[in-house]
Order: sequence, then C-alpha cells, then structure tokens
Amino acid sequence: MKDRFLVTGGARLHGSVRVDGAKNSVLKLMAAALLAEGTTTLSNCPEILDVPLMRDVLVGLGCEVEIDGSTVRITTPAELKSNADFPAVTQFRASVCVLGPLTARCGRAVVSLPGGDAIGSRPLDMHQSGLEKLGASTRILHGAVVAEAANLRGAEITLDFPSVGATENILTAAVLADGRTVLDNAAREPEIVDLCLMLRSMGARIEGEGSPTITIDGVDRLNPTTHEVIGDRIVAGTWAYAAAMTRGDVTVGGIAPRYLHLPLEKLKLAGATVDTFEKGFRVRMDHRPEATDYQTLPYPGFPTDLQPMAIGISAVAEGMSVITENVFESRFRFVDEMLRLGADATVDGHHVVIRGIEQLSSTSVWSSDIRAGAGLVIAALCAEGTTEVHDVFHIDRGYPRFVENLQKLGAEIERVSS
Ligand code: UD1
Repeated sequence: MKDRFLVTGGARLHGSVRVDGAKNSVLKLMAAALLAEGTTTLSNCPEILDVPLMRDVLVGLGCEVEIDGSTVRITTPAELKSNADFPAVTQFRASVCVLGPLTARCGRAVVSLPGGDAIGSRPLDMHQSGLEKLGASTRILHGAVVAEAANLRGAEITLDFPSVGATENILTAAVLADGRTVLDNAAREPEIVDLCLMLRSMGARIEGEGSPTITIDGVDRLNPTTHEVIGDRIVAGTWAYAAAMTRGDVTVGGIAPRYLHLPLEKLKLAGATVDTFEKGFRVRMDHRPEATDYQTLPYPGFPTDLQPMAIGISAVAEGMSVITENVFESRFRFVDEMLRLGADATVDGHHVVIRGIEQLSSTSVWSSDIRAGAGLVIAALCAEGTTEVHDVFHIDRGYPRFVENLQKLGAEIERVSS
C-alpha cells in the first residue's frame, strides 16, 4: 500500500494505448447483478483495486463472484442478505450502489456510509429522498443508511442536481417497483446509459437514458444477463491530456470519442491536432499549449474527474487560465501539490487562476484521490528532474496497468515498493 512512483520528466509520449471498461460503470453493473437471481457475466472489466472490493461487498451479501482477467461472473442467490455493513463497504464510494437493488429485492437495506475519495462532502440526501418518493422510509442509523419498503411504487421524481449516484440508485430500485417512474433532471453520463442498457437486457423497461428525463415501467422480475462494460472516458481523457502536455502523439482506442467531446475540443483550443475514429482518437501537439478556461459540470459538461488534467495543462500553458469547479468543493487540494511542482496557481473559492510557466520542477508530491494522483504523474512528466509521487494506491483504484501503459508510450516512470 506504500508504493510510490518515480517519474522523470522530458519524454514526449508517443504510440497507442487502449482503455479498458470504465471504473464508474463496472462497479454499478456489478451491483445491478443483485437484481436478478442467476449468473450475470460482465466483460471488458478493468483490472483495478475497486473491482475485488466490490466482489467482497457482493460476496458479503450472499453472491458468488469470480474474477477471471477482464471477465467478472456474479451468481446471485434467490435470498440475499440485506445488510451491507461490513468493512469492504466503507472503503469506496460506489458500494452505495447496492442500496437501490437491495431495497428492491429485499424490501430492506442497511448500507454503511461509504468512504472513497477525499474530494468534498458527499451526502446521500438525494438517494434517500428518491427512494422515499418510491415509497421507502430511510434514515441514517449508527453510520449506515437504512431503507425499508414493503412495496415500492412508481413516482415522479425531480432531482435537485443531476447526481450520478442518486440517478443509479433510483433506477435500480424503480425497475422492480409497481408502475411508472419518471425521473427528471437525471444524470446523463455515458455510464448511466451503460447501466440502462444492461438493465434493459435483463428485462427492465426503461426509456430516455442519456437525456434529463428517464421513464421506467416496473416489472415483476429481472433475468441475469451478459454485458460488455463501456470504455473508460476518464482514463482516455487522461492519456489525451498527457499527450498534449508532453507535446507527444498518442492514439487512444477502446472509447467512442463523442463521450469526450468537450475535453477534446478544449485540447484543440489549446493548439492540439485531434483526429477521431469510430472507437478512438489521436492527439498530436508540437508546441507549448495555449491557455484555455475550464469549468466542470455534469455530463456533457467538462468532467470534474478530468479537472486535475485541466489544471496540469494550464500550469505549463502560454498565458493565464481560470478553472472553475462546480461539482465537488474540495477538489482543489490537488493545487497544493501542483504548487510544490512550481505551478503558479491561486485558489479563490471554487476558482483557480493559473499562470502557465515554461517548465515545472521535480519534488515529492502526494496523491489525495484517484484523479489527483494521475494528474500529478502527468504533470511530473513535464517537470525537470525526477518526481516522487506518493500514495499511489489511489491511482491503482482507477487506472489499470498505469505504469506499464505510460512506459509503453515512452514515459520514464517506475514503481518502487516500500
Ligand atoms: C460519481 C463518480 C465520480 C464523479 C462524479 C461526478 C462514481 C463511483 N463516482 O460520483 O468519479 O466525479 O460522479 O461526475 O461513479 N450530492 C448531494 N446529495 C446527494 C448526492 C450527491 O449533494 O444525495 C452532490 C455531491 O456532494 C456532489 C454532486 O452532488 O457535489 C455530484 O455528486 P454525484 O453526481 O452524486 O457523484 P457520485 O455519484 O458520488
């Protein structure tokens, strides 16, 4: 757990890399397998730490789970345990996604409040109020969210904010409720669309995913299925920004470029050449990036998970950039580490103003979450000398074969175990 990376700056990344399935999809799809008795098979699963953690959660609920490379098989019993209050649950945010399926299948769910990345306060009020609209009672008791419902029934629900997790829990409860649910101001992320595709292949009746209004007609039971996980747009975006920042030439496969429309448009504004294909894209850059402003927003806005990469490219760009964080209030902790690398950045509320400099300089830095960790490594590729990036277990939670992929692209990086 105490591994660190040694990253030596200067190389221009070049070559090809393929992304695996999305972390933020596979964990929800694994939880959705709870909805149907029998064996569900997921392919294109990323080999990241959070997948075995989710296996532990499902095993704790009575499932059998087999991880075989990029394939995960989940066998769900007729009778599930309804208490998810064991240690694996608290270790990552996505564990809260068992709340909807357990409430629907068992009529009762106890799920310990999740841990996960330190990127700001992450309340569950919208998850709770959504389930309450469906007829459940919910409360927080001894550090766990408890939901109880003799019978879920369809309802009209409008979210205060298009929360990804709340949309997922409402969807996975409403698919087995009596009658029609209309969910408005729903999250539109590609991972939500992926979840709906899988639920539909299980027999769910859903329309409108990918738009702000999703309509769900509840069914009596769902069947197990086979499903391929959507590619990871955040990993793909990380390679895109790394290519541009190191003035490289990288082709990324395994992802439809439309899921990264705005991040790639921003790279074009910064001066990169971007070519898109059906299942991939190529980013080329032969000069110092130009400064560009960014503001994070729910999809299709600029993803908050790529905000560290936006800060990274701005730190070495020509000119001044303003980056505005609208989703998670504590995500600018990353800026303190960028200051150690010599970045000229000032945080003001939920904005950070960055004056680009010619080159960052190496030092020791600490990852505080998955994306901040990856952002620091990418920034270190633009620093003079060798940077030590600590707490890289965060990166291992979300980026499969991170070091190997970067080495393949020509980066000087090695893992050091303590
Ligand atoms: C998911 C992703 C995360 C990504 C985020 C936004 C997973 C495991 N994580 O997180 O990588 O950065 O979407 O794209 O998929 N909120 C409330 N009350 C609620 C729920 C959310 O106030 O009941 C707030 C949050 O504090 C946050 C905002 O809504 O400020 C967005 O959160 P949400 O979209 O729910 O993100 P997650 O599902 O937690």
